[in-house]
Amino acid sequence: MIKKVGIIGGGTMGSGIAQVAATAGCSVKLYDTKTEALEKAKADLEKIMDRLVEKGKINSEEKQRIQNNIKYVNSLKELKDSDLTIEAIVENLDIKKNVFSTLEKFVSDDCIIASNTSSLSIASIASSLQKPERCIGIHFFNPAPLMKLVEVIPAVQTSEETLKISVKTITDWGKTVAVAKDTPGFIVNRVARPFYGEALRIYEEGIASFAEIDTAMKEIGGFRMGPFELMDFIGNDVNYTVTETVFEAFYYDPRYKPSFTQKRFAEAGYLGRKSGKGYYNYSDDVSPRAVEGDFDSEKAEQIFNRILVMLINEAADALFWNIASAEDIDNAMTKGVNYPKGLLAWADEKGIDWCVKKMDELYDEYHEDRYRCSPLLRRMSQGNIKFY
Ligand code: NAI
Repeated sequence: MIKKVGIIGGGTMGSGIAQVAATAGCSVKLYDTKTEALEKAKADLEKIMDRLVEKGKINSEEKQRIQNNIKYVNSLKELKDSDLTIEAIVENLDIKKNVFSTLEKFVSDDCIIASNTSSLSIASIASSLQKPERCIGIHFFNPAPLMKLVEVIPAVQTSEETLKISVKTITDWGKTVAVAKDTPGFIVNRVARPFYGEALRIYEEGIASFAEIDTAMKEIGGFRMGPFELMDFIGNDVNYTVTETVFEAFYYDPRYKPSFTQKRFAEAGYLGRKSGKGYYNYSDDVSPRAVEGDFDSEKAEQIFNRILVMLINEAADALFWNIASAEDIDNAMTKGVNYPKGLLAWADEKGIDWCVKKMDELYDEYHEDRYRCSPLLRRMSQGNIKFY
């Protein structure tokens, strides 16, 4: 049973994870090298708790209990009695490895040492430990207290026991766990790539505007945000870097090729909401995302189908490569990034034959490896098999 949790790094993710663990009743120590970061984490939590009390989600005793469960510490040694530690510091392999090997000297032999990394391999982080079998990826989504999904990623070195305890703990914390193989982007950051990439490509080919593509995805697909709104929300710098990292990590598989449009927007400082301008302008109060004039519904349908089938193909391929189970792949997308439906369930609904036909049409048109149909979809179509 995990009772004492150490969190390393008190930034956006670390402070959110500390709140989740403290709310679940764990005794948490939040460590950061910067005193300002700890002060900010503490002040932010106070504000969040006050808002939850105002909204009637918790009462003032619960607020007190949650806040009392978190101690803010400025030495790694303070984490020595932890049953589980989760690291959420800067995304740099050497710095993480250094912190992990130092931490291991203080904690007990059965303490689980986890990383919240989005893009580094868990195997490489685990290799810094004397007992790498205790290392695992526990990947939360931002904001951690609100997003239901947590990806749990065992490395090749991770023991069954470490995986079992991690899954149970995160489930006890009220989260939905998706277990993913230690491969680039895990589930969400891999399967979601075409949502951005194919939208950018459709724009770059001059087929449609940002607003037309967003409208098609929202109105036909039921997505809460269109790709361009979402990239503006995430930040074009952040989203571009994830794409570039995944592209490189997959040995430059053309399916994940980044877009010049997004690169230039990031370079220009058109980062999205945080800079006041991205694909849309956020500094005026005119609703920026409406399509001007009539929008051809046939064109909207084509745009939606093209992006959807690329997403389905990516999800099917993740299953083909045993990255996760079908249920976990679908849960990851609905609970990690709020997709209206699981992509594999969507494939069943559209028909596997339809998916294969659409992918082959794209391939016939472009003759690019980017549009290769997943062998799993083709096999399923030949055998008349569905995902569920
Ligand atoms: P952040 O920049 O908000 O916070 C990082 C914190 O770590 C800072 O307060 C910094 O002072 C502290 N820190 C840096 N080096 C340290 C060290 N050696 N020892 C102790 N503390 C140290 O970063 P954020 O966004 O919270 O990301 C943290 C990790 O979580 C990264 O690995 C990132 O890839 C991952 N992640 C981020 C997500 C996001 O949306 N921001 C989502 C999921 C994972």
